[in-house]
Amino acid sequence: GNGSLGGRGALIVLEGCDKAGKSTQCRLLVEALKKAGKPCHLYAFPDRTTEIGKVIDEYLRCTKNLSDEAIHLLFSTNRWEVMPKIRELLLNGESVVLDRYAFSGVAFSAAKGTLDLAWCMGPDVGLPQPDLVCFLNLSKEAASKRGDFGRERYEKTEFQDKVKSIFLKIQDPAYWKIIDADRTKEEVQSELFQLSIAAVDTSENKPILKLWD
Ligand code: TMP
Ligand code: MG
Repeated sequence: GNGSLGGRGALIVLEGCDKAGKSTQCRLLVEALKKAGKPCHLYAFPDRTTEIGKVIDEYLRCTKNLSDEAIHLLFSTNRWEVMPKIRELLLNGESVVLDRYAFSGVAFSAAKGTLDLAWCMGPDVGLPQPDLVCFLNLSKEAASKRGDFGRERYEKTEFQDKVKSIFLKIQDPAYWKIIDADRTKEEVQSELFQLSIAAVDTSENKPILKLWD
């Protein structure tokens, strides 16, 4: 990759409510960046494969209950546990695309109404700050056309509306772009690719900043 030249990779995050097309777009983006000669890796949060991730998975499938505080901290721990690996990739000149990050952590927990916003942000303070966050913004009309939600814990229209309002509240213009996700898969892909290539090129010689520090 470009690691031999000393430049670091970019940390690129796709965020958004459920059904916005994040996972598909993440896959397409990683493929396109690789084709363009930019080494990159895909990680998804929650990572359901770790010990902590398995508990999160049970919580989301409603086979396990946990207090709002406990599950919030597990989601955060699930990010911190893979961070040494992600940091190593970035420093080695490889970019990382994340399917959700701390913004989902805060938006979904705070939407419950039981937890203070600042408390929710606390555990993720100091994670690597993304170079680019693409918020896939899906209108209610387009969301309803995409069919029913799945059966996981947060997949309900009223709850997702609250989640979206918190996403928009915590957005930071330093790295945040709102992407119109009502368009075709190809149109969304093309915009994400252009923004990401620009982020890869401009991040090379910048330090990795700390999130919410
Ligand atoms: P997924 O559908 O992308 O696998 O995400 C599972 C659910 O977990 C989704 O409803 C968003 C929620 N979530 C949180 O509540 N906190 C978090 O920190 C993350 C990453 C996801
Ligand atoms: Mg889901």
